[in-house]
Amino acid sequence: MWMRFTIVSTLLLLLALAPRNTAAQTDASKSPISEQTYSATMKQIASTFRSLQINNKAMNHTDGEREAGRLAQWFADIQGYWEAKNVKDAASEAKIAIDAARAIESASKAMNMSTLDDAEKRLAGTCQNCHKAHREALGDGTFRIR
Ligand code: HEC
Repeated sequence: MWMRFTIVSTLLLLLALAPRNTAAQTDASKSPISEQTYSATMKQIASTFRSLQINNKAMNHTDGEREAGRLAQWFADIQGYWEAKNVKDAASEAKIAIDAARAIESASKAMNMSTLDDAEKRLAGTCQNCHKAHREALGDGTFRIR
């Protein structure tokens, strides 16, 4: 009788201590995006970055702040893709892009134009660096990951 009680309470205790798969999991546990989503994300990044540059020039900071925030989120997906593949230079370039986009976001809010310009240049640099190393032109106007 006591034996059974001990076994049951031990089981209950183990159950209570077991790690649970709850909604509280963070983005880090999100599965990486597919190559198809990667390509679609790059297209969104490109058009949003173009629009951001125009808004920054026009000092349209409300839209600029929103666009920079979206860029930071998309680059987090890009970073996750490369981290899952363990490609360090691309993952770190994506991280620089996230940080630059966040810097643009807060500089837009503060209307700090010199910080904004610097961060925009830094962000543009990541496009070039990563494309040189990891984007292959297929000759028909499309690209693939390499
Ligand atoms: C960490 C790497 C990385 C960074 C940073 C990056 N890209 Fe890309 N990009 C890629 C790769 C890889 C591809 C090829 C994948 C594809 O197009 O299917 C690509 C493709 C593209 C394409 C072609 C999309 C298509 O398929 O037609 C555009 C446009 C683009 N990127 C714009 C940008 C812009 C603008 C930035 C910076 C604001 C940027 N990218 C930053 C890696 C990156």
